[in-house]
Amino acid sequence: MNNMPKDFLWGGALAAHQFEGGWNKGGKGPSVVDVMTAGAHGVPRKITQTIEDDEFYPNHEAIDFYHHYKEDIALFAEMGLKCLRTSIGWSRIFPNGDEDEPNEEGLQFYDDVFDELIKHGIEPVITLSHFEMPLHLAREYGGFRNRKVVSFFEKFAETCFKRYKNKVKYWMTFNEINNKMDVDNPLFLWTNSGVTVKEGENAKEVMYQAGHHELLASALAVAKGKEINPNFEIGAMVSHVPIYPYSSNPVDVMLAEELMRQRYFFPDIQVRGYYPNYALKEFEREGYNIKIEDGDEEILQDGTVDYLGFSYYMSTTVKSDVERDNTGDILNGALPNGVENPYLKASDWGWTIDPVGLRYALNRLYDRYQIPLFIVENGFGAVDKVEADGSIHDQDRINYLKAHIEELEKAVIYDGVDLLGYTPWGIIDIVSFTTGEMKKRYGMIHVDRDNEGNGTMKRTKKDSFEWYKRVIATNGEEL
Ligand code: BG6
Repeated sequence: MNNMPKDFLWGGALAAHQFEGGWNKGGKGPSVVDVMTAGAHGVPRKITQTIEDDEFYPNHEAIDFYHHYKEDIALFAEMGLKCLRTSIGWSRIFPNGDEDEPNEEGLQFYDDVFDELIKHGIEPVITLSHFEMPLHLAREYGGFRNRKVVSFFEKFAETCFKRYKNKVKYWMTFNEINNKMDVDNPLFLWTNSGVTVKEGENAKEVMYQAGHHELLASALAVAKGKEINPNFEIGAMVSHVPIYPYSSNPVDVMLAEELMRQRYFFPDIQVRGYYPNYALKEFEREGYNIKIEDGDEEILQDGTVDYLGFSYYMSTTVKSDVERDNTGDILNGALPNGVENPYLKASDWGWTIDPVGLRYALNRLYDRYQIPLFIVENGFGAVDKVEADGSIHDQDRINYLKAHIEELEKAVIYDGVDLLGYTPWGIIDIVSFTTGEMKKRYGMIHVDRDNEGNGTMKRTKKDSFEWYKRVIATNGEEL
């Protein structure tokens, strides 16, 4: 079975802070991730607020794409990538975030990267904000809890849209804008929004206020982008982790349905242009005072997105009569009533492996929104074994990706879901977001770098490299 669209965007995905390095090069300012140390599975990353001499910050050097970009892009081209999803480090363009003028050296860096991609026939797919807010905006303004940051983001977006209007067509505003719905883990509000919850504050209320500002910033950026180039395709990007009911008990089913609003709240607004009733009812019930000003409704309405990008790694399961078993990863175990799904295995980091869940997600999202979808992250984080001859036989990764591609093809070919493309996460090994580790690897290209920052940075093709090259060359026919 195969009939994938001819122009289907097979690609790879990365984010500036996780692979670029050069954290203080070319006039770049520190970003919110530049003050995050390394953690591990079950050990949270510390947010030190300032850069401490005796701490190790894995994102500072990452895999040093900053100095290896030609070599890396040549490898992506050899693999046959049709697109590369990455982000623009906000603090490379506006080092503090509140300057009048952008940093020319930062802008030139992305010109060089995009030119190199285009030279190789690789379409850049660009996220404006992937956890890279200038640290100064977080520390001096309180991040997106402060409405002033909306205009700083708007200016950043406008600067990028104008500069790259003939090089980039596909954009996304905020990466995984919805992951901060999990307010119990400070990592998400910090990286998404530059927000730290203060003693005595209601974290949910703070999150919704920052979220409102980000929704405005996203909508204003979409409207501005369309003005600059009407051919732009500007999308939202959300983390999509389906929540299954543990049983056919209607109480379990309703619980899962209600919890799914954590996944849907942001895209509901970005796609439809207005707040859903369930959220307004929650604000009323909980007594949240979310400042929504006159004119905001129009802004949201005028800035709806063209497509929905999403990450898909796993699913979760909830049961109404347990509180929380916390056996999963932080993304997973954070759910109230979360339990293990007896039908699914998990990765070493506790992320369930659920390919059918991807088809399920594609159908639910497409039925709900009826706009094109784009799988902009999917992948298998695992420890790689480097053989004596330097080869890496990552069959588990191939199995994971193959099973997920089979399901996405069913969604496109059988179910008729309008899907723009598929960009597996971390096409080259990078620093893990949630743990800051190097050993949680997703890449098809291995990078000689360890958790402590040792290694030669040498790039080596894994078995998955040739496998994915074949997938792309046959437009998904040979898996
Ligand atoms: C998504 C993020 O949450 O998942 C990426 O958009 C991240 O930035 C990816 O890297 C995988 O998570 P992790 O923690 O395994 O790197």
